[in-house]
Amino acid sequence: MSQSIELTINNQAVGPIEVGDGVMMIEFLHEYLNLTGTKFGCGAGVCHACTVIVDDNLGVSEVVRTCINGVERFNGKHIRTVEGHAKQNAQGEITALSPVQQAFLEHFSFQCGWCTSGFVNESTALLERLERKPIAKDQVEHVIEEALSEHVCRCTGYVKYYAAMKDLILKTEGLTLS
Ligand code: FES
Ligand code: FES
Repeated sequence: MSQSIELTINNQAVGPIEVGDGVMMIEFLHEYLNLTGTKFGCGAGVCHACTVIVDDNLGVSEVVRTCINGVERFNGKHIRTVEGHAKQNAQGEITALSPVQQAFLEHFSFQCGWCTSGFVNESTALLERLERKPIAKDQVEHVIEEALSEHVCRCTGYVKYYAAMKDLILKTEGLTLS
């Protein structure tokens, strides 16, 4: 059996494509679309390396793991993967990283990078939540921990990811209450 899948990924319309039953979203990204930036870690919903952002039409986003959710869950949705964050020119060359990517780079937050796309997506969704609903400065560390605590990194010990996000949130106008 197969199913017809049609969705939007990083602002590009995809499909309709016939996809076999039981295909997980991460497999669809890798094998059907050659979007390999989303990483397969545990494959069991634990490490969150495979997280992508799903946007609804009302501007609300959620983060979803792609190793435990079949492609059908994403049918008709707008998805953001790590490939969609940096700014590109007309030739497809990267001209600027996103603020989250830049902060992680400047803080040496990752080593092997396997967990990074998940951290980028989760952190981007957090920034967007704070844009809609700023928080007190003394809540920043707590909110970062709450958002990122389920992401597993086997290399760096997390500190530099958290520090990068703290710096970014505190220096970005409008995310915290003065
Ligand atoms: S690979 Fe999906 S949660 Fe670990
Ligand atoms: S940088 Fe290697 S798993 Fe996080």
